Amino acid sequence: MIMLEALELNPTPRRPVWIMRQAGRYLASYRKLREKHSFMEFAGKAELAVEVSLLPLRQYELDAAIVFSDILIPLQATGATLEFTEKGPVLGAPKTTEELRTFSTDFDPKTHTPVILETLSILRKEVAAEKALLGFAGAPFTMLSYLLEGKLTRDLSIMKSWMANERELVHEWLDRLATWMGGYLDAQAVAGANAVQLFDTWASVLSPKDFEEFALPYARKVVSEVTVPCIYYVNGVAGILDQAASVGAQALSIDWKMDIGEARKRTSQVIALQGNLDPYHLLLPKDLLREKVFQICESYGRGPGHILNLGHGIVPSIPEDQVKVFVDAVHEWR
Ligand code: CP3
Repeated sequence: MIMLEALELNPTPRRPVWIMRQAGRYLASYRKLREKHSFMEFAGKAELAVEVSLLPLRQYELDAAIVFSDILIPLQATGATLEFTEKGPVLGAPKTTEELRTFSTDFDPKTHTPVILETLSILRKEVAAEKALLGFAGAPFTMLSYLLEGKLTRDLSIMKSWMANERELVHEWLDRLATWMGGYLDAQAVAGANAVQLFDTWASVLSPKDFEEFALPYARKVVSEVTVPCIYYVNGVAGILDQAASVGAQALSIDWKMDIGEARKRTSQVIALQGNLDPYHLLLPKDLLREKVFQICESYGRGPGHILNLGHGIVPSIPEDQVKVFVDAVHEWR
């Protein structure tokens, strides 16, 4: 599997490629299935989740499949309600500390998230042997932010007021979510995931000192529990690159707001890097898009350890044939 070889910094005949949110609404085949089933139905039934996970691999020469689910699914174990609406997911967030104290504190992957485990074990048999199967989870800071905010927000003002006013309780929950997510990812590895990605998407809203207090130790605890290679992702990693590289993961996923060659120099080539096309560069004319992909490969430079991906998830407005240009350009690059 060239994906795993790249994660281990071993040489590969070409660079591996996959796409964050590769099974999503930019695919006509996904939208068609979505007319018949809700997102929750996909995530709640293994046969459907398998079918959706495989859609992008039928269409593009990708080197990895990622299991179809969402980082928020395990948060239902707290007892909070979860809904996927037109405007994004909505969780029944606690309004007060008293309310948070009524939330359930136990999590067992086999009891609370059996579908993702079943999906992974079916997928590992269905996906070609040379392609990696990826599991994933949200990192504790990003998960707790969602749990306390309840929905997509811009500056995490609610999470930050919990951090200011209820520091101990916030740490208690971050530690709990680290235990939960460590067990969750490990169960995914046992079920068939060859590698996992840990999404700390929102951790860049923190100052570097707060990142060291509220995000890094808990992400590190999750990574230390996982027995397969781990990729760590923060959207906006430039300001905390050195700390993020110390999380213990095999790879860092770099968003598009920094040069990947600079990231490689600053991480001293000891960790694999993933990325980092601006998701909206997929809208460029085909020759320019191809050029952008080549520039990223060139900037990373020679030697192993580069996995091509976008700097964040693909968005619904991207034309499907543009994705083929991106993937083919990676295959063409020498
Ligand atoms: O990458 C994959 O294809 C695997 C599946 C996956 C989804 N979400 C499916 C999904 C993964 C790995 C995620 C991660 C995720 N989910 C993150 C971390 C990465 C990131 O993008 O920042 C976060 C913060 C979430 C929470 C979430 N789920 C949001 C903010 C949204 C709304 C935005 C959007 O794209 O709709 C979702 C919904 C969601 N998760 C969809 C998909 C395919 C769209 C659902 C639909 O069909 O309507």
